Amino acid sequence: MNVSVGIDALSFYTPAYFLDLGLLAEARHVDHQKYLAGLGQERMAVAPPDEDIVTMGASAARPLLDMTDPDCIDWVLFATETGVDQSKAAAMFVHGLLGLGPRCRVVEIKQACYSGTAALRMAADWARRHPGRRALIIASDIARYELCSPGEPTQGAGAVAMLVGANPGILALDDEAGLYAEDVLDFWRPNYRETALVDGQYSTRVYLSALEQTWRHYVALTGRKWTDFCRYCFHLPFTRIAEKGLVRLARMDGGPNPSSDEIRRLVGETLTYNRVTGNTYAASLYEGLTSLLDTAEEDLSGKRIALFSYGSGCTAEFFSGTVMGGYRQRLRGAVHRAMLDSRAALEYQQYEDIMNLPFPVDGGEHVFAQYRTGPYRLAGISQHKRVYETL
Ligand code: COA
Repeated sequence: MNVSVGIDALSFYTPAYFLDLGLLAEARHVDHQKYLAGLGQERMAVAPPDEDIVTMGASAARPLLDMTDPDCIDWVLFATETGVDQSKAAAMFVHGLLGLGPRCRVVEIKQACYSGTAALRMAADWARRHPGRRALIIASDIARYELCSPGEPTQGAGAVAMLVGANPGILALDDEAGLYAEDVLDFWRPNYRETALVDGQYSTRVYLSALEQTWRHYVALTGRKWTDFCRYCFHLPFTRIAEKGLVRLARMDGGPNPSSDEIRRLVGETLTYNRVTGNTYAASLYEGLTSLLDTAEEDLSGKRIALFSYGSGCTAEFFSGTVMGGYRQRLRGAVHRAMLDSRAALEYQQYEDIMNLPFPVDGGEHVFAQYRTGPYRLAGISQHKRVYETL
């Protein structure tokens, strides 16, 4: 029997602070329109010093525990490229903060922004053989580049948590997926660096060429055309890339470039959240999916949507899924919108101060100032141990 598997519930979290890119444009003497129209970004989320991938991931995941029996969770898979420890998985901290049971596999997965998709596909394959059980996937990242670098306006922070299992309530995944992998250096962060290195123009070219490759593979497996999808969710290092991706697919299908109305219809709702948080790396594609499902006025039940996942370095996957009937009852759109609307705007200098704050590495006792966070915060560092607090 072919059991349907996929996303049963999803929840999004972003820090309570943002920088309006108008202030960044002013500080960098750049035309604000470059950020708004050229990159498609309005604001970027800024994580305060007592927020990290663990607190964001746990905050995203906590509401999902009310939507399933926590004893059914056999896996906690944490996808990130801003890990806090070379050995201990960020998932382990979250497992503790959420009070999950001991009969559980708890690991961290890395391949740049692709790792959330790796976790999702692995969990979905497992779920087919274990109906009734659930995997908790958390994608959580803080995108940071050097001050004054071209990547700076595309920074951001956020997390998406998903429950994955059989007979899902939100999105049933298709089996087929177009894959592509190539060893390139378009974006990377050596272990000794706080900020990522990126050759952004090259990375955009590799992204679009990986899209072509995965699309060719997907079409060979399914025979579908680009017009067979009601919406497209792209990995979003900046939201303008979705338009570039659609144009590329239309050209490959031999059709005319999609009109601006068509682009708006196919990707518009997927960009709403990312436009005001910036890049959330591993979470970005799933933030776009959350944005689509939360904000689309059209009932998407029974409709097929396309997803393109890209992780620099690079691994890419084009895949698809069908939205389940009744999916709206599983969404948390009102909570997500209230969270975004209640964020505090930083002054430019406050942003720079947060970015320049050194992280203590001396093994001493450090208590962190309390900022606005979700239900969890990083209270300090004690003898190289991270100390988390539940509020
Ligand atoms: N008004 C409107 N648009 C403007 C503008 C203005 N005044 N000035 C520039 N633009 C447009 C440019 O034409 C360009 O659009 P196009 O791509 O359609 O040509 C866009 O704004 C960006 O300008 P560009 O000069 O290419 O920007 P940049 O060299 O400063 O860098 C990125 C842009 C995206 C490469 C850079 O922000 C970056 O590296 N970001 C990180 C990306 C990343 O993380 N990639 C890896 C993970 S996938």
